Formats: sequence, structure tokens, C-alpha cells
Amino acid sequence: MIAPEGLPSAHPAARSGQGSPVSGNPGAALRTVSCTLNGEPACFGVAPFRTLLDALRHELGLTGTKKGCDVGDCGACTVLVDGAPVNACLMLAVEAEGRRIETIEGLAAPGGELHPLQRNFVRCGAAQCGFCTPGILMMAKALLAENPRPTEAEIRFGLAGNICRCTGYTKIIEAVALTASEVCGVPAGGASPAAPARPAAAQKRGAR
Ligand code: FES
Ligand code: FES
Repeated sequence: MIAPEGLPSAHPAARSGQGSPVSGNPGAALRTVSCTLNGEPACFGVAPFRTLLDALRHELGLTGTKKGCDVGDCGACTVLVDGAPVNACLMLAVEAEGRRIETIEGLAAPGGELHPLQRNFVRCGAAQCGFCTPGILMMAKALLAENPRPTEAEIRFGLAGNICRCTGYTKIIEAVALTASEVCGVPAGGASPAAPARPAAAQKRGAR
């Protein structure tokens, strides 16, 4: 599990208590959060108790990140924080202060060209209803960044915190293995050094 590094300092505007009252909770004031979101500077106001998942979906309009369980069990809300996978439903939005947040909306190239993982999900038929897909793609991105040549077992272990109700996982594993083979020039699901004791997937905040 990725341990939170403690709440970052609130934005000066929030510390000064100059935030706006929160609708429905007049005792709370909005905090201003500044971060890097999909490569661009972002600044937004959010209630201090709001999760990153809800802030992404409601304050920022980025609805690609899905809410499945809202308690850290399903992985549908996976985003990357400073490159590490995090269940956004278990992270407060104010913890994003000064961090680098990546969501599914930033996975494709700015011109719209699909990321190799996205392209191979399409090629392999790895998405059905698609509800789990954004979280799995972000998790797979982190997995391949940490271990560019995963075995099939390592891919399965790395994605163990992401639940899919539709596909049976086989096509998902194929798509990730195919992406690794394209990037590294090794056979899909091919040989890899011994698996790390706890890859990023299993260390993700909320992974059980
Ligand atoms: S919504 Fe299920 S883990 Fe966050
Ligand atoms: S494709 Fe439907 S939950 Fe995974």
C-alpha cells in the first residue's frame, strides 16, 4: 500500500480562511488545490472532505475515472499520482496539492492518437462494458513503467486489484502482454526476471 505522505500544506487562500462556504455544509470552506493534471497546470476549489475521485468527476468534469465501489475494492477509480497508482476514492482531493495527477483523459496523445495500451485493448477486444477499462489502463501503464517485461503471472498479479465483471480477464492480459512485447521487443507474456516482491499494483493505496 502506498502510504500517504501526510496532507500537504493547504493553499494560502485556504489557510487564510477566505474560501467559499461549501454548499450544504456552511461550516466548511473550499480549499484551493493546485496541481499538474494530465500535464497541464490545474487549480480548483474543493471541500476539504471531498475525495480526489469526486473532485475529478464533479469539480473538474473528468468523468473517465469511474466510481465502482467507492471504498477501495474495485480499482475502477485508479489514477496515477506522481506516477504511482492510487485509488482516487481513497485519496482526499486536497492531498493532490503540488502533485502530478494522471487520469484516463490524458492517456492518449494530445493529437488524439491512442496510447499503445488503448490500441491493444481495442485490437484484443479487452473491453466490453468498459466500466473497468480506464482504471485498468492506468494500472497497466504503471505496471509497465515499473516492469516493462512482465510475465503473464506478473501482469495478473499487477492487475489483481482491478475487478472486471465482463471479460474474464484473458483479453485484458493479452492486451497488456502485447503492449509490452511491442515496446520491448520480447514475446507477449515472455520471460522476465523474477517478480518483484510487491509490485506497484499490489502496493496501490487501498489494494486488498
Ligand atoms: S471506486 Fe472502487 S476502488 Fe475506488
Ligand atoms: S469490461 Fe465491463 S467491467 Fe470490465
